[in-house]
Amino acid sequence: MYQCITCQKKLNNTLVDSIICSTCGNNYPILDGIPLFIPEAISSIQGYKIEMEEAKTGLTEMADNLDNLQKQLEATEFYSRIKNTLKAVQTNLNVLQEPYLPIIEFLQKQPENANLLAWSMVKTGTTFLDMLPYFYQDWSGTSDFEKIKNRVCKTITENAVDRESVAVLGAGACGLLHSIADFFEISYGVDLSLPTLLAAKAFIGGKPLTFHLSDADWQKITLTPPKISTKNIHYLATNVNNMPFKNGSLSLIITQYMLDIVSNPIGLAQEIRRVLKPEGLWINFSKPFRSAGDPSILGMRKLDELPPLFNSLGFEVINLENERFNYLNLEKVSDEVDTVNQLVHFFTLRKNKLFEQNEASKQISRFFDPNCSSVWNERPRIVNDRNLIFSQQKSFDGTSSVNESLSISIMGHTFSIPLDFAFLLETIFRAIDGEKNLREIYLIQKNTIGLDEKSFLLLIYIPTFPSVGFYVGWYVWKWCIVWHGGLLQLRVLHVFRSEQSRMLF
Ligand SMILES: C[S@@+](CC[C@H](N)C(=O)[O-])C[C@H]1O[C@@H](n2cnc3c(N)ncnc32)[C@H](O)[C@@H]1O
Repeated sequence: MYQCITCQKKLNNTLVDSIICSTCGNNYPILDGIPLFIPEAISSIQGYKIEMEEAKTGLTEMADNLDNLQKQLEATEFYSRIKNTLKAVQTNLNVLQEPYLPIIEFLQKQPENANLLAWSMVKTGTTFLDMLPYFYQDWSGTSDFEKIKNRVCKTITENAVDRESVAVLGAGACGLLHSIADFFEISYGVDLSLPTLLAAKAFIGGKPLTFHLSDADWQKITLTPPKISTKNIHYLATNVNNMPFKNGSLSLIITQYMLDIVSNPIGLAQEIRRVLKPEGLWINFSKPFRSAGDPSILGMRKLDELPPLFNSLGFEVINLENERFNYLNLEKVSDEVDTVNQLVHFFTLRKNKLFEQNEASKQISRFFDPNCSSVWNERPRIVNDRNLIFSQQKSFDGTSSVNESLSISIMGHTFSIPLDFAFLLETIFRAIDGEKNLREIYLIQKNTIGLDEKSFLLLIYIPTFPSVGFYVGWYVWKWCIVWHGGLLQLRVLHVFRSEQSRMLF
């Protein structure tokens, strides 16, 4: 059914709890029926646990603060809101942990694995907690979701000749996947967030989901699972830029709010083309995007600029429209919320079977082979306008101490980073000048950072994924901690005072 994501050889699924590649030995674990197809999967899976612990820390701190406030503001107009919010936060703490339990159980059975290189590869930038509004959107009968569902179903009815298999990429809460599964013999929900898929699978399998929506006044939501059906749905955790589907194997691909969040939309389009059957369809419903080579001053691509791009990538355009979508509309839950009405590009493409493309080997595979000499001769460039911005923040909390923290912003995402983390970013990104090849950059970092060849190539592979900052960030941070402990702090601070770096494409 699947192929190995690194050597691309057929995978024969012989075990219940893992799929092992008989050619390269890669081991892809299966948790509660969901296989995890990422490089170094067994060690990478730790990333989910860390992601959960961070979210848990955030909620716990919030609960502590609310608990204190509750005591201080007992006789005020805020009291009832504080009390309700505290209860909601405590409920969400349990909700958060639930889908991570199979992961923690799995890790408990594994020997301690010191290889922390790869676990950053599970980061999508969204924890299961961040996905709760999507569960509400997909499963509470919102008119916005109905609109897109009907639009997609109509397009399938009118255009999909082949009804064998469909994959929804970045399937999230899996509402759309479930809605269209009946059209096909087999359907796949693809998402890098294993916890989100575990939660969606349990829900679709009949387990109700109750949580509180922070963006809607912490109101309580209870979602009722869909009626049991015989739909043949498979879930798989993998990165959409490197999927385990065989070449030319799927009838239809759907991307919903996905094309706009990947840093390399062209790479995603190529991967979609690879896995589609000849004349297979791609339906997209995502905010406008731009590719790395586009003039940044022009912003996102306009609708009429898409056909030349997609034709050059081997697709024929069937339809192309501007749509409006109320994104994560929580109006029905609370009166006091804002709504965001977004422009969305809706398009349907067909894989052009006459288009010539060498699909024998995925371009991305080169990063898994340190013995491949050509990869070392490649010269990475910095993408114009994709600044990686470091900022140092100082906050004053009324005591004599000053709290200093660092944050990093990439493509509108801002998150805090440990000091050590910056060092590798600086070293590698500074070395990228469009002239130096990967071997030269590798050697520059070798003395100071100490990544070996395999790890270095893996690091370069990671930025071809979406949410680049997250991937690079986690990866680098862990390495710095492992190799340098706290010794680099002074140097890093020095770098931060004046520098701005850019993002690797
Ligand atoms: C913005 S949400 C959209 C969810 C769903 N498509 C919807 O519109 O309701 C993006 C989803 O894509 C997933 N995701 C992000 N980057 C991914 C990647 N590189 N590979 C696979 N899934 C990814 C996230 O985990 C999340 O579930």
